[in-house]
Amino acid sequence: MAAMPHVVVVGSCNIDLIAYAPRIPNPGETILGDRFSMGFGGKGANQAVMAARLGATVSMVGAVGDDLYAQMTLRNFADQGVDASHVTRVAGSSGVAPIWVETNGTNRIIVVAGANALVDGAAAAAAIERMTDVDVVAGQLEIPQAATLAAFRAARARGAITVLTPAPAAPLDPELLALTDWLIPNEPELEALAGAPIAGDDEALADHATATGVSLVVTLGARGAALVQAGHVTRLPAPAVEAVDTTGAGDAFVGAFVVGLAIGLVSIDAVRLGIACAAESVRRPGTQASYPDRRRAAELRAWVAAGGH
Ligand code: RIB
Repeated sequence: MAAMPHVVVVGSCNIDLIAYAPRIPNPGETILGDRFSMGFGGKGANQAVMAARLGATVSMVGAVGDDLYAQMTLRNFADQGVDASHVTRVAGSSGVAPIWVETNGTNRIIVVAGANALVDGAAAAAAIERMTDVDVVAGQLEIPQAATLAAFRAARARGAITVLTPAPAAPLDPELLALTDWLIPNEPELEALAGAPIAGDDEALADHATATGVSLVVTLGARGAALVQAGHVTRLPAPAVEAVDTTGAGDAFVGAFVVGLAIGLVSIDAVRLGIACAAESVRRPGTQASYPDRRRAAELRAWVAAGGH
């Protein structure tokens, strides 16, 4: 594959409204928070930004509204070197995500889709068909599954690798699953798909991957990740870090993993690159704001390529 791979992300753009508080309020209760920050998020946009910081050529396919958040989001893509010419403007509000982060870094997120709900499948497919040299197409579940499905059809037709993050958890269209090469759930998302908490059970993981016809990576937070490929399970640990905010760590993982795949790393090393970038992100507050910058991302990429782990 190309040294500078082309990663296409078909997915969501949100503005994250993050409140840091010692704990989550009970129903009917008001508590005082510690601080607030507004930043750029959305699972799709996060994956795109992480991939761009690792040196990939990245195109974002999605939608924003006609509000101030839309202008900010498009400006951010320009600043991050992400091609947003396939991000359409639609009437109404952009996607927003109120987020609560507790002292131990745990997050809770509500996504209000706004423009993300209006991403059009035909337009997404046409965009992918028109692009040159598409290596990987990544999707998530914050835009209509029909749009991701159309994009994955176009990706498959031109031989690109498809990577699906099944988040937020939802039943998957069987055709979308059939068009997916790599499925990357976290533990709750895997449990929702499998109908049982199987993340700790190698045999069940291998059976699930075989039954769904995908290669699987389960992200396990502080415990790293489990790679399930061709009936074989490899568990890769994460470095011990002090987590202050886990928001978007899964997206950092996926953005890095897809770059790893696209530059031709073996899958174990692509997972290591994902873990390294996610582990860095949880040490800092914010979503995209917490991701390794281009200089640090290049160091992590070189470290993994040199066999470091
Ligand atoms: O995965 C983290 C992301 O989920 C946040 O950026 C938020 O916008 C939601 O999409």
